[in-house]
Amino acid sequence: MNNEVINKIKETNQKYLEKMIDNMPSKIETQLENMDWSYLDLIDQEAKARGSFSPIEAMELSEIEANKTNYKAKGIEAIKAGKVAAILLAGGQGTRLGFDKAKGMFNIGETKELYIFEQLINNIMDVTNEAGCYIPLYIMTSEKNDKDTREFFEEHNYFNYDKNFVKFFVQDMAPATDFEGNILLESEDSLAMSPNGNGGWFNSLVKAGLDEELKEKNIEWLNVFGVDNVLQRIADPVFIGATIESGCECSSKVVRKANSEEKVGALCLENGKPSIIEYYELTPEMAEARNEKGTLLYGFGVTLNYLFKVEKLREISKNSLLPHIVKKKVPYLAEDGQLIKPEEPNAYKFELLIIDMIYMMDNCLGFEVERNKEFAPVKNAKGIDSVDTARELLKFNGVNI
Ligand code: UTP
Repeated sequence: MNNEVINKIKETNQKYLEKMIDNMPSKIETQLENMDWSYLDLIDQEAKARGSFSPIEAMELSEIEANKTNYKAKGIEAIKAGKVAAILLAGGQGTRLGFDKAKGMFNIGETKELYIFEQLINNIMDVTNEAGCYIPLYIMTSEKNDKDTREFFEEHNYFNYDKNFVKFFVQDMAPATDFEGNILLESEDSLAMSPNGNGGWFNSLVKAGLDEELKEKNIEWLNVFGVDNVLQRIADPVFIGATIESGCECSSKVVRKANSEEKVGALCLENGKPSIIEYYELTPEMAEARNEKGTLLYGFGVTLNYLFKVEKLREISKNSLLPHIVKKKVPYLAEDGQLIKPEEPNAYKFELLIIDMIYMMDNCLGFEVERNKEFAPVKNAKGIDSVDTARELLKFNGVNI
């Protein structure tokens, strides 16, 4: 086994791995060679201090409405010129939904089958039908759901999208540790690995060789979106046109928070740069602060629908993002070889977050969208942001489910 890895195991007193050094299964060896050991040093470090926050202005509905025709024409022109591609982030594990397959394979229909992936393809096809051309769609999966996702699209004939315009790429994985920093095993021949968050997507796309394709096709803009929001407009020409006109290198679709306590990250400025403040980072005063019109100052919630200039993504991809350390429930092999399925969070996972990419941008256009027309995230099985609320919103928007 690689000496460097052996030294790392010893230096960090890995209680599950030390006794395996002389007899390490080859899969674990490879996982250990590929992992970023510097992540372990972050465990005992204080979270990176945030800068000084201030509110950001967004382009509001009335302004968008007034310029809609112009923005839309600009957006359609960019799409027709082949300058726009879409990136679907579908590598998450969707643990809150409690569905054991890829979230996009969930059937959101009531009286008929309507899979989340299908609904998203229907949404993008509204635009491709209008523009009269297909938009390249890159789907990020993880090692856990890649095979299922590809097979699902094949079985369903890509929901009538032209399959030549769809490519899949697999995101990187990261290990999990217990609260003392011991790397966990999920079986005798594998570490407990999980997808490394939604912030590594551009680097994973590059690793898969797809940046070459972006260059060949002269793609200038990437519309990145999550799998959850079944109402989102993908490659929305008005959004694209407004971003191009604004001269910004990135933009984010935002909704007005339902109330000052809503658990959603808000677009803001941090040290004068675009950023996202999480709801738990807001002081009570900031959460309630309003302008003279009575609008919440930190009231534009992000919806995981961003447009990025590819050139800028290439530039920032040289700087690595720092992972966030999150407490999760991770099944693991105990020292006596028993598989433990914890009831409470027992482990740290390391996740790169797309919201941190926003802070690497020089500017970002907040673009307001109507909440009940474009925001129906499926996060939970019941309650807030659930299958039930998404179904209601789909019906409200006239989608036959
Ligand atoms: P979430 O933050 O909802 O995470 O992802 P999740 O893993 O899907 O779900 P929970 O928290 O376990 O319930 C937001 C978006 O980012 C994608 C998801 O697929 C979703 O579109 N994502 C998340 C990835 O693509 N990769 C990841 O590693 C994590």
